[in-house]
Amino acid sequence: MQLTKEERAMLKGKHGKAAKKAMQILLALANIYNAKRLIPVKSVQIAGVSYHNLGDAGLELLEDLAKDARVRVLTTLNPAGMDLENWKALGISKSFAEKQKRVIEAFRKMGVTITCTCTPYLIGNLPLFNEHIAWSESSAVCFANSMLGARTNRESGFSSLASALTGKTPEYGLHLDKNRQAKVIVEVKAKLESVADFGALGKAIGDKIGNTIPLIKGVREADLEQLKSLCASIATFGGTALFHMEGITPNKTKVPRKKVYITKRDIEKAKKELSDRTEIDFIAIGCPHASLRELADIARVLKGKKVRKEFWIACARPIKKVADLMGYTEIIEKAGAKFACDTCMAVAPLKGRFTGMMTNSAKACFYGRGSNAFKVKIATLEECVREALK
Ligand code: F3S
Repeated sequence: MQLTKEERAMLKGKHGKAAKKAMQILLALANIYNAKRLIPVKSVQIAGVSYHNLGDAGLELLEDLAKDARVRVLTTLNPAGMDLENWKALGISKSFAEKQKRVIEAFRKMGVTITCTCTPYLIGNLPLFNEHIAWSESSAVCFANSMLGARTNRESGFSSLASALTGKTPEYGLHLDKNRQAKVIVEVKAKLESVADFGALGKAIGDKIGNTIPLIKGVREADLEQLKSLCASIATFGGTALFHMEGITPNKTKVPRKKVYITKRDIEKAKKELSDRTEIDFIAIGCPHASLRELADIARVLKGKKVRKEFWIACARPIKKVADLMGYTEIIEKAGAKFACDTCMAVAPLKGRFTGMMTNSAKACFYGRGSNAFKVKIATLEECVREALK
């Protein structure tokens, strides 16, 4: 494999031990996937930030790397295990908080921008069409590839960190045109209205075609919130990192012959499978992390009311700062709902704290069950708020 002068220097350790290790990781990957060269990336997004998932071994490894590791491109983080400021109010233990803060400090030392979010594209890590990037959060990878036309494989925490420390990634998979073509048409014959409907669509498609790249037809309009929900659920239930949607996504694709249908019945079945018989004691909105418009909507429906159940809204801290300025935060907090910035209901250590979670996100249902052993119910935002007020 041909390496540039700079890449050879990194491999020889001339840019420090961490860059050398990172280059070795990327070359091992290149070897596995038969990549012919490394290519520059414009930005990186690193998952595996929660101490809940990293444990002591991961924390020590990061602290060791941070001694001489420095990122070379814009790099942001996926949600951590807690709100970095408001962790006490969300019931996080002091011992967990101390370890989580050490994880964040290690990333900060490396030059990583400390914004812990799965929607980096909403807060300034916004790749352009055809730009190569190395991101690892599955919903963000799907959004970047599909909605923005950027190019990334779904990286692991360590391969994305290796890209951050070198500014490179092996050229294979979704970086190449030939691997970005649709293989099946998915004709949607159902009316979709809410974020929850689009989450159910992602599950229905994922269940039907797995990780085959689809060309989705029949969806006439969709907004940002609905599409980020679709990206999250199609990636969760199908492992899909890229889809095309006629009239909505920007990538070109050949039109495949094979066709499958998604009907109203498929959407209803997906929703049914995301709804357990349970009482609800926890409402969670913001999977993927909430947009400003979602915060405005929540403020509108909560204005002057009081919630009677634990109600979390996960979002990126910079989005909440704008909500502070707009007065949404005051309305939401006066109603008794809580912001969970920098974290989410899946990566925070919540196991055993709640019985039944209601959410408008199909992905949150999956992880609520899997990571936190909750019973779950998918619903619209308005239904979630109604439940919280009961
Ligand atoms: Fe984001 Fe957590 Fe959902 S990382 S996509 S809010 S499970």
